[in-house]
Amino acid sequence: MHPAPFPVPRLRRTRRNPALRALTRETRLAPSDLIWPVFLCEGTDCATPVASMPGVARLSIDRVVAAAGEARDLGIPALCLFPYTDPARRTADCAEAWRPDNLTNRAIRAVKDAVPEIAVMTDVALDPYNIDGHDGFVRDGVIVNDETVAALVKMALAQARAGADILGPSDMMDGRIGAIRTALEEEGHGDVAIMSYAAKFASAYYGPFRDAVGAAGRLTGDKATYQIDPGNAEEALRCVARDLSEGADMVMVKPGQPYLDICARVRDRFEVPTFAYQVSGEYAMLRGAIDQGWLDGERVILESLAAFKRAGCDGVLTYFAPDAARMMAAAR
Ligand code: PBG
Repeated sequence: MHPAPFPVPRLRRTRRNPALRALTRETRLAPSDLIWPVFLCEGTDCATPVASMPGVARLSIDRVVAAAGEARDLGIPALCLFPYTDPARRTADCAEAWRPDNLTNRAIRAVKDAVPEIAVMTDVALDPYNIDGHDGFVRDGVIVNDETVAALVKMALAQARAGADILGPSDMMDGRIGAIRTALEEEGHGDVAIMSYAAKFASAYYGPFRDAVGAAGRLTGDKATYQIDPGNAEEALRCVARDLSEGADMVMVKPGQPYLDICARVRDRFEVPTFAYQVSGEYAMLRGAIDQGWLDGERVILESLAAFKRAGCDGVLTYFAPDAARMMAAAR
């Protein structure tokens, strides 16, 4: 609080010029705050555009390795891999999810071989492998929890064996963090980190992602029985507390911008590494308006990302990662 009345406090004094603004800026965005989500596809030298995410393509493994090199050169510390699974390999038992040589596991090995300094994060959930697009097994119309967790453990172990640095369980089943953490310890992967999608809401902002991984047309019903209701903040905090107690090293809030209140409350309450996912729908909205000339791309991308830092996040998963890092490099 300012004790004296105007004109003693003139808050514009520190905004007068760029030097004063730089000195008084409270939060700063850096390439090291970013995790770059990339979509994988089979083939070589292949980039298939995702229609609902202009500027984003599914990449073959050789292209992902090139992207990893680009990330390293731009100062982006991590890539997060999401597979587009061949429809023939999507089954009710989701066995492709833990096959040692599935697309994701081959990509993990290829990136870690070629660009070891890049941290590889994965997605742990069954939706890219499931015939009905759900993150868990479906029995009589119900997404069953405990059987799904047993499958997620197999999937997580296969990713850890392939060399993943960070596992990202995004499925929202109960008990999966503890089960994965125990299995990792038992198999000698005690150093593998878990970034739990702890506060993941049942959101309409995931639409373009489901196109990208080929789950959109398959999804029967919605994910409201496992993802959090968008009206619930206290429940999101309980999910974070639970996942931390089960062995998560980092937690995520998802989507990002519509849930900045959750980001701020998670960081304040738990003081653990907290990340936001600026999801596909947020990307599509900004990219669409930028491409129309309705928003200034350079400014709005950096502003949208800096907001996560101001809310208390340690970092952001964003499809804008390489663009944003290039803008930051040019601004220096
Ligand atoms: C599913 C998963 C989703 C995203 C990441 N992992 C979608 C969903 O829950 O349906 C969304 C990411 C995005 O929208 O960018 N396991």
